[in-house]
Amino acid sequence: MDQRPQDYLFKVVLIGDSAVGKSNLLSRFARDQFHPNSKSTIGVEFQTKTLDVEGKVIRAQVWDTAGQERFKAVTAAYYRGAVGALLVYDVSRRQTFDSVGRWLEELHTHCNMNAVTVLVGNKTDLEDTREVSTAEGRILAEAQGLFFMETSALDSSNVTAAFQTVVEEIY
Ligand code: GTP
Ligand code: MG
Repeated sequence: MDQRPQDYLFKVVLIGDSAVGKSNLLSRFARDQFHPNSKSTIGVEFQTKTLDVEGKVIRAQVWDTAGQERFKAVTAAYYRGAVGALLVYDVSRRQTFDSVGRWLEELHTHCNMNAVTVLVGNKTDLEDTREVSTAEGRILAEAQGLFFMETSALDSSNVTAAFQTVVEEIY
């Protein structure tokens, strides 16, 4: 673990439908681990990892919870103090992309409108069963004023970049 004193602590929340890969993005980012058979998250968890931005040590505290409706009770506390969000969908399931608007509403209800948000299309390794194109993702992100990135928690592509983007933009 990085023992240097931190200059900043940023809270970042993961949101998006169930099974889009939020927990695996976090475990890939924080511990470089992927779990092929992970179960739906129960309650709220967080992990921290330090990043260097312009010579400053920034500790990203990333919060993760289940995408399912039945866990809605945690909502207010979950978002409190968050300065960034990764709004995740699964490029191989259009239904999860269709939910993005609803997640944005929830984010804006509970969180500062200024929270830096990255729209993340995860599971790009599933190219053969892709249902949402890169262009569609980018267009939605532009229309909503979000940053945009496609990732794969499985093959690691762009995972660090997605977290680095949100932290740099907060900073
Ligand atoms: P909830 O906790 O229910 O909200 O789900 P989640 O968004 O945390 O999803 P999770 O990380 O548990 O992943 C769901 C399933 O998708 C698991 O079987 C993962 O192994 C798989 N998965 C996650 N990311 C990827 C990815 O990038 N590619 C592929 N192929 N599978 C992935
Ligand atoms: Mg989870």
